Amino acid sequence: MDTNKSNVAENDPQFEAAFQKKIDAEIKIEPRDWMPAGYRKTLIRQMSQHAHSEIVGMLPEGNWLTRAPSLKRKAILMAKIQDEGGHGLYLYSATETLGISRDEMYDQLHTGKAKYSSIFNYPTLNWADMGAIGWLVDGAAITNQIALCRCSYGPYARAMVKICKEESFHQRQGYEIMMNMAQGTKEQREMAQDAINRWWWPSLMMFGPHDADSTRTTQSMTWKIKRTSNDELRQKFVDATVPQAHYLGLDVPDDKLAWNEEKKSYDWGEIDWDEFRNVVAGNGLCNRERLQTRRDAHDGGKWVRDAALAYAEKQKKRTAAKKAA
Ligand code: 3HC
Repeated sequence: MDTNKSNVAENDPQFEAAFQKKIDAEIKIEPRDWMPAGYRKTLIRQMSQHAHSEIVGMLPEGNWLTRAPSLKRKAILMAKIQDEGGHGLYLYSATETLGISRDEMYDQLHTGKAKYSSIFNYPTLNWADMGAIGWLVDGAAITNQIALCRCSYGPYARAMVKICKEESFHQRQGYEIMMNMAQGTKEQREMAQDAINRWWWPSLMMFGPHDADSTRTTQSMTWKIKRTSNDELRQKFVDATVPQAHYLGLDVPDDKLAWNEEKKSYDWGEIDWDEFRNVVAGNGLCNRERLQTRRDAHDGGKWVRDAALAYAEKQKKRTAAKKAA
């Protein structure tokens, strides 16, 4: 059966069975292939929210561009923030292959219909936060995104390969900031410890609710959109990051953290799920400010979009006139 027909109803049981066989055989699904409506909807939701997270994620760090401690640090932070913008555009483009427009996605973000990662609703109070964000937030993102490189949807998986390469630079530059401060003056060491105290638990929230509370995981794993569960990825991140904190001479703010020799991984405490739900529901410290900044930037950039469209229209007319001549 040729399941590359995209003109068949998206809930045809015959096609669903053939589709799942492709997924199980690790055959990538491409934009023109037939896919169940739910698969398309899940990808549009997750990929557009991923793109929103990249774009909104530029704001907390952008706050420190003009206050970077040196020209070198300013240049590195500038490069990182520009990368995040590129990741967002990359992911918006990959999501458009599923039949949603850029404007629709922006509207879903600006009206609060769409989510973005909770982590970006926390304030950045000082330069150590730039280190903690690169080290912990980008570190958590890499843990999650490496799994997404094996996602069943071709454009998403391929976007992840490029994005992960850049994320590893983001994580390293953050860890270097933390190392400089942890080996610096007493005040700098205290700032580094304060930053991990504030960013550790919100970084663990990035992996989503516990598997048992996840509304999406089972179906997403059947469709191989999600290759590893939220809790497994979170545990992987904890096991990799705790030794890095110890190397810096910093304490992880979790008094239940302990190495479990039998499991060969860390036991640790419990996330404050009320805080998680509160931030995801829009009541975090910076939710309103972040969304308003995005809306203002979108409105402020309208003249650029109009000019680009007018120029494209003019070019189209010029080409058509040349062809007609
Ligand atoms: N913040 C906001 N919403 C969250 C969340 C978080 N940390 N964790 C989960 N959610 C939402 C989910 O979106 C879902 O809501 P929805 O159905 O309305 O979309 C609900 O909570 C239930 O969560 P599930 O785990 O059941 O949902 P998913 O299967 O979608 O898993 C996810 C959540 C693990 C975040 C998954 O969507 C995913 O892997 N997304 C792609 C990666 C991503 O978006 N990362 C965000 C950070 S990007 C980043 O950090 C950029 C870097 O450069 C710094």
